[in-house]
Amino acid sequence: MKNIFEFAAACLHSGSVDEKLALTHQAWRGLENGELSLLPASSVLPIAQVTFPDKPVLLSPREMPKRKLGTAGGVSAFFHAIAHVEFVAIYLAWDLLYRFRGLPDQFYQDWLRVADEEAQHFELIRTHLRAMHLDYGDLPAHSGLWDHAKDTEGDLLARLAMVPRCMEARGLDVTPAIIAKFKNIGDDASVALLTRILTDEVGHVERGSYWFKFVCEQQGVEPEAKYRQLIEQYYRGGKPKGPFNREMRIIAGFSDAELDWLENTTL
Ligand SMILES: [Fe+2]
Ligand SMILES: [Fe+2]
Repeated sequence: MKNIFEFAAACLHSGSVDEKLALTHQAWRGLENGELSLLPASSVLPIAQVTFPDKPVLLSPREMPKRKLGTAGGVSAFFHAIAHVEFVAIYLAWDLLYRFRGLPDQFYQDWLRVADEEAQHFELIRTHLRAMHLDYGDLPAHSGLWDHAKDTEGDLLARLAMVPRCMEARGLDVTPAIIAKFKNIGDDASVALLTRILTDEVGHVERGSYWFKFVCEQQGVEPEAKYRQLIEQYYRGGKPKGPFNREMRIIAGFSDAELDWLENTTL
């Protein structure tokens, strides 16, 4: 029987895009068919050993060329950026289940499902990009998306606060307005794609909230105070900026008190 942690290690330490996608789907099918072991296996390698492909070239946000959605090049560059977000999201889901051991089986099942959905998102966007005569890797991409993972290598609560409950939650805030822009220009394919992704992302943030509260309870800490403390400690540049999508964030497990704090406190 194949083991989930062996799949995770293979995905995290392979620089091949296609191999990573194939292994992710294979692992998920294995889980669905009851052919995947969740028993702890093999040691955990440091996050510094995680391998990214040679392309795209990674640049800091300052070095990234600015493009506007209003042009054809702007639309394809936008989807290239989103492809990269989804590609890194595959790593983020795998790394979460790989690095943090000893949790209930449901934790591993949940994050493997997320990894598989992120791989689907990436593939959908790559197909969309190719129809615009661009492939993933043809443009440079944002280098910062992996930083929060590196910062939280040894702290599960910080990882859950920063990745699903910050980075992915940000997607819930900004995506509806982007979907509205594509609706305005009559780009139905982009609207359908982004709507599908947004629906799945609510689920990813919700799982982040669920496991954040679960681990807080295990450790005997109060989740809302802990979330605030971790944001203050790990968020570079103070605090996530609004406006926040309250409706979707509530569905995704944020409390009104957390949202009030995000909206009203300046650090
Ligand atoms: Fe995604
Ligand atoms: Fe996600």
